[in-house]
Amino acid sequence: MLPCVYRLQPVLALLFFALFTQGENCPATCLCPDPHTVDCSGRGLTRLPDEIPLDVRRLLLANNWIPRIPSDFLVLYSDLVYLDLRNNSLSHIEPGTLSTSSRLVFLDLGCNNLTEIPKGTFGESRSLIKLRLGNNPHLSMVNEDAFMGLTSLRELELERNALSGLQVGALSQLPSLRVVRLEGNPWVCNCNFANLFTWLVENSHKLPNGIEGMECSLPTDGRRVSLSRLSQDSFRECQITLTLTDFLIIIFSGISVSVAAIMASFFLASTVHCFQRWSKDSNDSNKH
Ligand SMILES: *[C@@H]1O[C@H](CO)[C@@H](O)[C@H](O)[C@H]1NC(C)=O
Ligand SMILES: *[C@@H]1O[C@H](CO)[C@@H](O)[C@H](O)[C@H]1NC(C)=O
Repeated sequence: MLPCVYRLQPVLALLFFALFTQGENCPATCLCPDPHTVDCSGRGLTRLPDEIPLDVRRLLLANNWIPRIPSDFLVLYSDLVYLDLRNNSLSHIEPGTLSTSSRLVFLDLGCNNLTEIPKGTFGESRSLIKLRLGNNPHLSMVNEDAFMGLTSLRELELERNALSGLQVGALSQLPSLRVVRLEGNPWVCNCNFANLFTWLVENSHKLPNGIEGMECSLPTDGRRVSLSRLSQDSFRECQITLTLTDFLIIIFSGISVSVAAIMASFFLASTVHCFQRWSKDSNDSNKH
């Protein structure tokens, strides 16, 4: 019995070798635990490894120092379903990196150094279900159309970034959204926040800890309060400001109309007066 196992050992080793390295298709510093997975996590990489097999579906690149992904990356690796770039050095994503044909379902860009998510960053990645963008400490700008076209997106993570505000359209344009993480940002509850607040109250079931789990600072004294302590009434002043603006516009246009009317009547009156004098003069001269 025992000698039999000994004899099998080289065969088993070979089998393991074949399974875990995938022969020459696996990048030198990475592991390939199954035919569709390339795992290069925590290898101190400062750029994407060469020779990633073109048919890779799961690419794990977390905990490296990778500063950029080429914009044609997903055109090249068009079978990619799962891309983990968590905890790298990405500072921006080139527009069109995620193309229309992308099969990507999971994308983790958390714990990087992104500063901005511009309009249409993710193209129309209709397969994307989970997008992690949290823990980017300088991420302060998310365009209203940043997530446009992500029709399947269910989970969006934007927690612990540097967001002080967010256009509500960025979230309300996502028809499949079930979970959104927004906590740990330096939100400011000024009038720009009013629309987002309304959306958050109506969609509080999508926040993992409800609106209680979110804080914002008051524009008056910078004090941080939980959103659950605010109500639509807290933003009443914003509506007054709005109506005041409208009111001013109305008054101003009223004044303009009146001025125009006065000037027109004055002009008419003078014309009539002149005409009357002229006809009187001509009558007088006719009599002589
Ligand atoms: C991020 O990656 C670096 C480099 O590999 C590693 O030292 C660090 O522990 C990682 N941080 C986290 C939170 O995983
Ligand atoms: C991250 O980005 C900020 C702002 O662009 C920059 O000041 C900082 O040096 C970057 N940090 C790293 C680790 O690249």
